[in-house]
Amino acid sequence: MKKVITFGTFDIFHVGHVNILERAKALGDYLVVGISSDILNFSKKGRMPVYSIQERMRIISALKFVDEVFIEESLELKEQYIKDFDADILVMGDDWEGKFDQYKSLCEVAYLTRTPSISTTEIIEVVRQPSDKD
Ligand code: CTP
Repeated sequence: MKKVITFGTFDIFHVGHVNILERAKALGDYLVVGISSDILNFSKKGRMPVYSIQERMRIISALKFVDEVFIEESLELKEQYIKDFDADILVMGDDWEGKFDQYKSLCEVAYLTRTPSISTTEIIEVVRQPSDKD
């Protein structure tokens, strides 16, 4: 059985998230998703997620192509997570191209093309825009 591992915040779930998770699963038989803790997201992106870690875990684990989720507590623990879950392949979006090549001694590393024109940050900005009527 080929195990795939990937990581992300997955806040305000959108089609780019579905696309990468579906393609990640297609690279193996079993998909494990590390979901950034609220504090880790704050340290990465300078804001607390809109959805809590419990909500994000519930949403991601409900997807048919996701087999297991866990909380990613620190970016520094990737090697540990890869070993703990016995992952054969690490999948990341190509916004991270080259950044995880150091794990190639542990497992395969694949960078998948991001879905254009959508991100959690953009959704937050669009929702915040006051409408013309306001
Ligand atoms: N992702 C993607 N296509 C997008 C947005 C995200 O493939 N349009 C991927 C990322 O490359 C990552 C995963 O989805 O592998 C989780 O990304 P995350 O950072 O949670 O989502 P973003 O929408 O990029 O969030 P933000 O705007 O807060 O950075």
